[in-house]
Amino acid sequence: MSDLLDRIGLNGDVPAHVAIIMDGNGRWAAERGLPRHLGHREGMKSVRETISGAVEAGVEILTMFAFSTENWNRPAQEVSALMRLLQHYARRESDELRKQGVEVHVLGELGRVDDATRAAVDAIVADTRGGSALRLNLMISYGGREELVRSARVLAERVRRGELAPEDIDEAVVEDTLFTRDVAAPDLLIRTSGEYRISNFMLWQLAYTELHITPVYWPEFGREHLFEAIVDYQSRERRFGRVGSS
Ligand code: FPP
Repeated sequence: MSDLLDRIGLNGDVPAHVAIIMDGNGRWAAERGLPRHLGHREGMKSVRETISGAVEAGVEILTMFAFSTENWNRPAQEVSALMRLLQHYARRESDELRKQGVEVHVLGELGRVDDATRAAVDAIVADTRGGSALRLNLMISYGGREELVRSARVLAERVRRGELAPEDIDEAVVEDTLFTRDVAAPDLLIRTSGEYRISNFMLWQLAYTELHITPVYWPEFGREHLFEAIVDYQSRERRFGRVGSS
């Protein structure tokens, strides 16, 4: 039993929704003289460990940035290695995730993803449906700005058709057009590898999210790092733009 896990339980107030920017796979590999794809492969182990840690800690929703719209601009070889890794992950982890009660959702511009990857992610989503311990959102071909542009187009089209009046567009109406329409905003965002950037991730949803940046490269991130981030979150006072309670 982890001391940190005990502390999380004692502190109470576990973040219901944790989002993660998994960064540093390339640097982890480079520092070891390895090709970048081996960094991504090693990163898959951290994905596995983080998911089981989230279940143990009582997190309800875990959102992981697996592939961004900008990642399409990486060398073709790296893009295909990442797609193959996603397929491999989806095929290999499905049973274990189902056993743990993890329900997988895949969010992003999936129209750009190749057929084999699409089939593999559709299968893991179908096979894990109904899991009630944790909802896992894998963000694939996702970009925050693209999500908002898409939303603007959907709303403009509704206005043009006369189904929606511009003055009726409020936050709830916008939220309903986002990939995350059925999940509350993240309480905690973790970014690995020490970069202080949002990198086009969940631009709308992160408005009042607490940030935890760790210098650890993603392949070295494990359940204890997740627990550290949660304990750090539990020390924060969330004010949502209002004045504090003390
Ligand atoms: C960032 O490292 C990481 C990615 C672009 C991909 C994240 C993918 C994984 C962790 C592997 C599998 C994921 C799942 C969900 C199966 P980087 O390449 O930008 O690292 P660098 O900044 O050091 O170059």
